[in-house]
Amino acid sequence: MTGPVVDAINQQINSELSASYSYLAMSAWCERQKFTGAARWLRLQSQEEYMHAMKLFDFILARDAKSELKPLAEPRQEFASLADVFERALAQEQLVSKQIDSLYEIAFKEKAFAAVAELQWFLTEQVEEEKVGREIVAKFKLIGNDPASILDMDRELGTRTGVAVPTA
Ligand SMILES: [Fe+2]
Ligand SMILES: [Fe+2]
Repeated sequence: MTGPVVDAINQQINSELSASYSYLAMSAWCERQKFTGAARWLRLQSQEEYMHAMKLFDFILARDAKSELKPLAEPRQEFASLADVFERALAQEQLVSKQIDSLYEIAFKEKAFAAVAELQWFLTEQVEEEKVGREIVAKFKLIGNDPASILDMDRELGTRTGVAVPTA
């Protein structure tokens, strides 16, 4: 793989780990507010982002390229409401989708076809992540400030089952 492709994948590993860190901070905020269902959902999402980072990390190593682990920025740790948490989560996913698109474009231009194949998985994953995020945000818009409905949402989010390990 050429330098630009390796650099871009290393940058994406940082983005996935940053997303993991950010979801972890969101989970902690929810836990403190006693939204235990949302806290569980976000913790699982944090683990999923960690798996995304590991998938790219393992790809770098499998291609005999050099991994470069960069510093992680401090994530936002305070939120206005439960709805605010999920609006920010959706915005983060939309940003990651753009990053994956750019990464795909670089890999394609550099004729790094193995990387192109690897990144197909991420393109599909982002479609799903954005879809799930939009659905949750839409539900929060509908329920507004109704405490009973917010508690129902928290309960629903808490039914999320364990993290699926991505397979290539
Ligand atoms: Fe991700
Ligand atoms: Fe994600």
